[in-house]
Amino acid sequence: MNDFRVEPEDLRVAELAALDRVLRSGWYVLGNEVKAFEAAWAERCGLTYAVGVGNGMDAIEIGLRAMGIGKGDEVITTPMTAFATVLAIIRAGASPVLADIDPDTALLDPVSVERCIGPRTKAVLLVHLYGQVREMEHWTALCEKHGIALLEDCAQSHLARWNGKVAGSFGRFGAYSFYPTKNLGALGDAGALVSSDDELAQRAAVLRNYGQSVRYHHTELGLNSRLDELQAALLMVRLERLDSFTERRRQIAKMYSERITNPRVRLLAEPIQAENHVYHLFVVICDERDQLGQHLKFAGVETYVHYPLPVHSQEPCKEIHCDPNGLAMAESHAAKCLSVPCHPQMSDMHIATVIDAINAFK
Ligand SMILES: Cc1ncc(COP(=O)(O)O)c(C=O)c1O
Repeated sequence: MNDFRVEPEDLRVAELAALDRVLRSGWYVLGNEVKAFEAAWAERCGLTYAVGVGNGMDAIEIGLRAMGIGKGDEVITTPMTAFATVLAIIRAGASPVLADIDPDTALLDPVSVERCIGPRTKAVLLVHLYGQVREMEHWTALCEKHGIALLEDCAQSHLARWNGKVAGSFGRFGAYSFYPTKNLGALGDAGALVSSDDELAQRAAVLRNYGQSVRYHHTELGLNSRLDELQAALLMVRLERLDSFTERRRQIAKMYSERITNPRVRLLAEPIQAENHVYHLFVVICDERDQLGQHLKFAGVETYVHYPLPVHSQEPCKEIHCDPNGLAMAESHAAKCLSVPCHPQMSDMHIATVIDAINAFK
C-alpha cells in the first residue's frame, strides 16, 4: 500500500542532511526544529498555532483536556475511524457517543449526530475520513445551533480544503497525525494540534510536557507527548513534497474513478471540488469484499480494510453510547469497504494493474 523504499533519491539526501543537522545541534527534544516546523505547519493550515506532540491520538486527548472537556462530558464522533479517535476521548476522561455515517461518503451523518446530542454533549469530533472534507458550513452551523464545539480529527486529511479553508481550521482545534503512512508522515510517531485559540494552544503546550509551565513548575497533571527535533526536521523536509505528493494521489484517484467500471464495485461520492479530497485512502465498496480482496491479492495487488470493525464492535467498546436508531450504515460499510493502493510512488503501470484486476473481478 506504501513503498517508502522507492521515494525520490533527492528526498533521501535532504532527509539525511536534516538528520545530520539535528545530530550536530546536540539538542533533541522541543527545540528550534520543532519551533520551525510548528510555525510552518500553522501557516499552511492558515492558523496561528501548531503544537507539536507525540502522535495524532495525543493531539486529540490534549486538545480535549486543554478545552476542559473530561469527566461527565460527552463527545460525539464516528464509529468508522481509527480506534485512536475514540480512545483519545476516553483517555481525556470524557464519554464518546457514536453517530452513524452517510453511506455515500462514510463521513458522519448530521441527522444521526443531532439525534445523539443531549445535555452532556460538549463537542462533535469530525473525522475527515480517507482525506475528505465536506459540508463544513453545515457542521459549523449545527454546532453553533446547539452551543457545542466543533473539533476535527485531521489525521487523514493533510491540507484538504473546503472553500479554500484547510482541514483543522473550522473547529476549536484540529488534530493531525504524522504517522509514517499519513500524507505528511514522519519517520516515526509524531502529531500536532492546530488552533488559533491562544489559551487553548498555550494550555496544550503545557499539557504535552507533564503540565510544566516553567521549568520544573507544574501547574497541572499533563502527559509526556513531545515532538522530537529529528521528526520535526524530517517533517519540514517532507512538507516541501506534500503538494506534489497530494497532486499525484489526486491523479491516481482520477484514473480509478474514470476507469473502474465493474458494476459489482461501487465508488464513494466524488469530492465537490478537487481541493476537498487528498486521497489518503482510495476506498471501494463491494458486497463480496473478501472475495474481491482475495482476487486482487492473486493479481499481485495489496489491499487493506479501513475499518473491518466499527468502534462499537470492538471488544472494550461494547457498552459505548450510540445513536438510539443504531449504526447500520457504519456496520454495512465495515463489511463492504476495501482500500486499494493509492500512494505517490505508484507507477502508471501499477495503477493500470489495480484497475484491470478490479474490472476483471466476476
Ligand atoms: C482518523 C485517525 N485518527 C487518529 C489517528 C491516530 O494517530 P496516531 O497513530 O498518530 O496516534 C489515526 C491514525 O491512524 C487516524 O487515522
